[in-house]
Amino acid sequence: ENDLLGKMPIRNKKILITAGPTYEPIDPVRFIGNHATGKMGFDIAEAAASLGATVYLVTGPTALTLKNTAVNRIDVQTAEEMYSACLHYFPEVDTAICAAAVADYRPDVVASEKIKKSDETLTLTLVKNKDILAALGAQKKAQFLIGFALETQNEIENAKLKIAKKNLDLIVLNSLRDAGAGFGTPTNKVTLIDRDGTIEPKPLQSKEAVAYEILQKVIQHYER
Ligand code: CTP
Ligand code: CA
Repeated sequence: ENDLLGKMPIRNKKILITAGPTYEPIDPVRFIGNHATGKMGFDIAEAAASLGATVYLVTGPTALTLKNTAVNRIDVQTAEEMYSACLHYFPEVDTAICAAAVADYRPDVVASEKIKKSDETLTLTLVKNKDILAALGAQKKAQFLIGFALETQNEIENAKLKIAKKNLDLIVLNSLRDAGAGFGTPTNKVTLIDRDGTIEPKPLQSKEAVAYEILQKVIQHYER
């Protein structure tokens, strides 16, 4: 029985996870999106559930499906919908891990009819979306809060700035400079940075393995 409990180290924890891209509508048939597939967030959700956690997975549009039927999946389209769902679940969870590639901007108006082709140029005005992770950081009480950072330059420095700005406990730095890392790959190369400034570069490994590395940090946090 002890062994079983050992394999379920976060069985009494509730974890909120965000995944995927968001789609920001332009008109009834078009949107602004990005290349995120949702795989990193889904792998974290599967791993957390297998370690015994109660999981709320808030995901943008994705073709992925979950193997573990215990995961509570909440499907959303836009950053605004993801924000509402996350703020709803956050007060009752112990940990939140924001792996979604949330659109930073959305069209200021959504055309109610399909936009017809006319002039040689078309200008869209975009307005900033709310930062979900920063909102969770501002509201957090005892929650352990983990964010991701996608950087192409001054990676460590920018990631540390995000820890401070969003009140995070840990950030998972993704560098697009590393081959085999990022969008649409089964692998990822990340660097874990905690709020004390400890930097742990990880080797290139499957996203599934990266998910366990991240959850190891959650387990360590609750063991202390
Ligand atoms: N994030 C979020 N809500 C947003 C934008 C980002 O929750 N509206 C989260 C992402 O899920 C990720 C972290 O914030 O965990 C960092 O995202 P990233 O795009 O790297 O950073 P930004 O703060 O958006 O800044 P920039 O894109 O300018 O680097
Ligand atoms: Ca961003």
